[in-house]
Amino acid sequence: MKTATAEILQQANANQNAAEYRPEHAIDLGMVESASDDERYVLPDNRAQWAQDVPNNVFDAEGQLTADKMAAAYARFQDLGALNIINTGLEAQEQNDVPMHVLECLGFGEKEQFKWGGLTSGRTNLKYISRCMRETDAYPEEKFLLPHNEILYQRFMPERLLFICSQPTKKGSGGRTFAHCALKTEAYIAGCGAAGSALLEKMRKGGFTIETGFLDDAHPEKSKNYFRSWQDRFGTADRDEAIAVCKQSTHQFDDCNWMAEDGIDAPTLMTRINIPAFKKDPRDGRDYMLFPRIALDGPKAHNGYRRFLIGDAELTKTETAILLQAFLATREGRYYNAGDILLVDNIRYGHSRESFEGARKIHASMAGMFWTDDAVQ
Ligand SMILES: [Fe+2]
Repeated sequence: MKTATAEILQQANANQNAAEYRPEHAIDLGMVESASDDERYVLPDNRAQWAQDVPNNVFDAEGQLTADKMAAAYARFQDLGALNIINTGLEAQEQNDVPMHVLECLGFGEKEQFKWGGLTSGRTNLKYISRCMRETDAYPEEKFLLPHNEILYQRFMPERLLFICSQPTKKGSGGRTFAHCALKTEAYIAGCGAAGSALLEKMRKGGFTIETGFLDDAHPEKSKNYFRSWQDRFGTADRDEAIAVCKQSTHQFDDCNWMAEDGIDAPTLMTRINIPAFKKDPRDGRDYMLFPRIALDGPKAHNGYRRFLIGDAELTKTETAILLQAFLATREGRYYNAGDILLVDNIRYGHSRESFEGARKIHASMAGMFWTDDAVQ
């Protein structure tokens, strides 16, 4: 791990120290200028994105994942932070599962699985297809699911992720799972002049605030909402008890309140949490930027009235434009064949999913655990 990190940092430091090598990225407001509250940004044409080749780290298993190869791949993953393993020889298994010994060798065995802390912890219901594999969350195919760290809405998160492709998209039709290096993304933002430096400073000072509302089962728009109802999430139909359970869940929420809406006798339970925007990796003592979320649309019933804030402020259009450019510039990934695997370190890398058309099936597993806030663990 030291080698790759050292190289990236050397590059980033060189950029900071020598003006002639410093990347100066002009801030292109085109992607956010015409945006409305329904869609706050518009990315470049999907087909143009799909045709672009981007870099990626590869380990070629040459048709068979032997124990030696898996050990070598895992070591390389630890060094780099994100790694595609291709030519694994794995067929799409029944229920798209992965053999247990492969999961164990790659650090995703049953003992290492990320524990949610109970079935009622999540915002959405996870669909498990076996003990260690789950389906990836649904997201509109024509949209780019922007980079994020997995489970960055509570104080504990999985340390590493495994994705395996059972049904690849056709080359050129999108759907790649990208990894985004936190150090490179931070260096890109820092290269966006005063506005970029100010954004990083705001993140350092204010952290990320995530507001999520849990609708009532009886809310007229509940069927369009993709989160669980407050009755389901907090395991009670009693409003006072739901508030009490939420307030006790200090690893998941800082605060909550009821939000009433005119003419609807079914208030929404609004929750919020603030999480530091940088994480010190205990393995190398470095601070890694976590990925700010950008809401595609404004707070509405269908998205649980959720807002992603830096400190207590919404992202400005300039900040959104900087982040979108940084996210596009830092894509690392490739078109898969069935059986290809991607390993991602959830501290040193964010991950995203490109828009796509056609069939696509990728399954995921989460392992290890870290606390987002070093002060509260
Ligand atoms: Fe994800």
